[in-house]
Amino acid sequence: MARHARRTTVVLAVFLTSILELLAAPGQQADFTPCDTIVYNVQAHRPDVRMPPPVVGRWLSSRCEIRPGPEFVIRDYTLFKNSTFVALQYMYADSACSAPSYVIISKGEYSFAQASWIVPGGTEVDYILQQVFIMGYTDKSAELLYRNINRTCAGIGKTKWLPGHLYEIFTFMEVPRQRGNNVDLMFLDKDCTTAINFALHELQLMRVEEWTSRDSKVLTRKELFLGDVHTDMGLRKSYRPTGYQVSLRSAEDSDDSDACRTIAKSDVMHPPVLVAAPVLSVQLEGTWVSGMCETQPHGMFVMRRMTFVRDGSTWRARYHFYADADCRRQSYSVAAAGSYAFRAASRAIRGGERYDLLVADVKVTPHDATAVVNMNGEVGDDCATDGSWRLDVEQDVTSTRGCATLGIAVPHVQADLVRLLPDDAGGTRLYVGRQPSDGRFRPTYRPTSFQLPLVQCKETPQTTRWSGKRTSDGVGSTSADHGLVAISALLTCYVLLATHATLRAALT
Ligand SMILES: *[C@@H]1O[C@H](CO)[C@@H](O)[C@H](O)[C@H]1NC(C)=O
Ligand SMILES: *[C@@H]1O[C@H](CO)[C@@H](O)[C@H](O)[C@H]1NC(C)=O
Repeated sequence: MARHARRTTVVLAVFLTSILELLAAPGQQADFTPCDTIVYNVQAHRPDVRMPPPVVGRWLSSRCEIRPGPEFVIRDYTLFKNSTFVALQYMYADSACSAPSYVIISKGEYSFAQASWIVPGGTEVDYILQQVFIMGYTDKSAELLYRNINRTCAGIGKTKWLPGHLYEIFTFMEVPRQRGNNVDLMFLDKDCTTAINFALHELQLMRVEEWTSRDSKVLTRKELFLGDVHTDMGLRKSYRPTGYQVSLRSAEDSDDSDACRTIAKSDVMHPPVLVAAPVLSVQLEGTWVSGMCETQPHGMFVMRRMTFVRDGSTWRARYHFYADADCRRQSYSVAAAGSYAFRAASRAIRGGERYDLLVADVKVTPHDATAVVNMNGEVGDDCATDGSWRLDVEQDVTSTRGCATLGIAVPHVQADLVRLLPDDAGGTRLYVGRQPSDGRFRPTYRPTSFQLPLVQCKETPQTTRWSGKRTSDGVGSTSADHGLVAISALLTCYVLLATHATLRAALT
């Protein structure tokens, strides 16, 4: 294996935050780097999550959302007490949501089914779509909508559509009909949504997070997480969510940002028009961490940390995977490193830039029994030597060309899309591309949408002097030695998917 040793200067370290330990010695927090403080806060301060989720109310996007395609959308959903909903999706021509194109209005009913077994902490929901309307905001978009929909659906009439007029493109309901002196029910069934790839399956998975201020028990923020949409637009209609999209904020507690105010006071005739944020040129150098416990498709939870070294060409990252929605029960972690290079500016997404990331070195550490069993279950030395995995012991999988169980291929080039946006707190957020929902690695795939943003740590990347000692229960103790610049691991969603699928198979 030494033969394959890379000329890497990267020192690999395991970053295992033991909450218990940190709580027992709160004074240590001061020693931590800004990155560690962010991670600590994510794990220590958790929201209340009720089952079934308290979803009644109006829920709004807090910024222009980019969906695979790319599509640019602002969502405004209202869920009523009587189990009906009205969902508005404002669609835009640009990635800043400054040029409204059309709106889709859907109405229907929802009911809670059960706690999700795919995504712990989520609730499965049944919904029935009853009516969908569409309305263009410009001559051009109204005409384009008519032409596209007319192509796949005969029942929309012969007259061209006008902007500012609502057209019904989906009906699935019973309506009363007068017959002489009697009224009976007539069933209407029409579906002209194919041409616009419309589906509202995101309603099949819901989670509400209620955040309270740390000291007082005052509710400060309510977020509704709905299911994710497939990265492949053609599969959107048949995909059942296995993770979440970026959350919607309760209209009651929408913060005071300009975007939130604009969205809150909009309506169908007055769509939100956002002001484009200043474009930040992409400066990747530095260290970036997850600002929240992130769900990934297939019910894995992850905290990411990426470092782009100041040499302008080397990156390293570490992904920590968890089995629970609070990111406390660690399942395994992956450290990766390699080089990166700028390719081109994105045409569709303002400020977006295409990068290629070479994944050259990968190390994996199992942190629970399931992960150990699963990784030892492989035959054929395709994830280090068969049967060599031990709890909390890191192994390099570069020499076995990755780890098939986890869907990791080394080396490989990941075509990526990145973007920087300012956040409300005056900082910078790094968005990296969302990999295919089905977890299959495609060499030519270039993302068109993003994962949740990473928060910039205000610290200079440095060689780590971190040392971790293990306790018998397998919890790594963070020694007071800081410089906890954990290394490495940019790993893609397809890795997570494959992993979770196999972990799940191992569990059942
Ligand atoms: C449900 O409640 C909403 C808001 O109160 C109302 O507009 C709607 O007509 C109700 N729908 C049904 C089927 O009762
Ligand atoms: C709508 O579709 C019909 C049938 O395919 C076609 O004859 C007609 O020209 C289309 N109308 C427009 C405005 O494209």
